[in-house]
Amino acid sequence: MKILLLGKNGQVGWELQRSLAPLGEVTALDRHSTDFCGDLGNLTGLRETLQCLQPQVIVNAAAHTAVDKAESEPELARTINATAPGVLAQEAHKLGAWLVHYSTDYVFDGSGSQPWVETDAPAPLSVYGQTKLEGEQLIAQHCPKHLIFRTSWVYAARGGNFAKTMLRLARERERLTVIDDQWGAPTGAELIADVTAHAIRKVLQRPNGQQGAAGIYHLAASGEASWNSYAKHVLAQAVQAQPAIELVAKEVAPVPTSAFPKPARRPHNSRLNTAKLQTTFGLTLPAWQQGVDRMLAEIL
Ligand SMILES: NC(=O)c1ccc[n+]([C@@H]2O[C@H](COP(=O)([O-])OP(=O)(O)OC[C@H]3O[C@@H](n4cnc5c(N)ncnc54)[C@H](OP(=O)(O)O)[C@@H]3O)[C@@H](O)[C@H]2O)c1
Repeated sequence: MKILLLGKNGQVGWELQRSLAPLGEVTALDRHSTDFCGDLGNLTGLRETLQCLQPQVIVNAAAHTAVDKAESEPELARTINATAPGVLAQEAHKLGAWLVHYSTDYVFDGSGSQPWVETDAPAPLSVYGQTKLEGEQLIAQHCPKHLIFRTSWVYAARGGNFAKTMLRLARERERLTVIDDQWGAPTGAELIADVTAHAIRKVLQRPNGQQGAAGIYHLAASGEASWNSYAKHVLAQAVQAQPAIELVAKEVAPVPTSAFPKPARRPHNSRLNTAKLQTTFGLTLPAWQQGVDRMLAEIL
């Protein structure tokens, strides 16, 4: 089977290179690839890549993920997060291929405290959320054989992440201030990549390429955290895993989102109900602490 992976060097893309490898022949591209065009800003080049490679599965992990920057470059964000996924969907449909794509809790307005289900009405607060929503809609319109995984608070051991920032600050300062009025579930790129490979296997096992399982799914680790409780967990776990670690921080003070003004508004409630994903694909999603502790074991 031929698989095309776009955005191969992002947090999720990097892990997908690993998890997709046993499924078939993977062509993994990023925006700088020279053999085939993997730049989501080059719509003609993208079409040519799909027509030339003729993959059976396309996995798009590329996105304009700079949430604050997107506020000042909405057209670029729209091209990458919406128009390009729409082009992928059109070409995938012509090929009879599955298109796998990622979206975000930021399609919701963050009201209430209940975990969002897939059928809840989206109402994005930011350009990023709006353009990701438009991407979902274009995919659904053009390619019935799609899987869209809405995820949240993604981290990976590779590159910068929230836990690394908290550990650095805890070495430098006695008092940290961390937001306690945004709630979600830290979700590892490894988990997202593993679930993606599992779901692809399941949809391909269906007779005659049926698209019965196509649709949007919420994909996040189990449980919930605020950024503040996430930070406290990271520091406590670091001390437990490595007692010699020198952290000077004595307090992780809770502060509201308004304490850190940013160009883009963030949802307060990013909880995602993952029952549909777990039932459809026969999966159990682990508690968020499990993946975070594994990541800490890697970076400490
Ligand atoms: N990160 C989160 O907390 C989060 C939360 C919810 C949903 N998601 C969604 O999950 C998916 C994966 O996110 P992630 O965390 O892995 O993001 P990421 O680490 O920022 O990776 C995104 C990748 O897209 C690439 N990219 C940007 N513009 C491109 C272009 N024009 N052409 C080709 N590639 C381009 C980036 O390349 P460069 O490094 O060269 O820019 C980067 O490698 C995305 O759909 C995102 O919207 C993420």
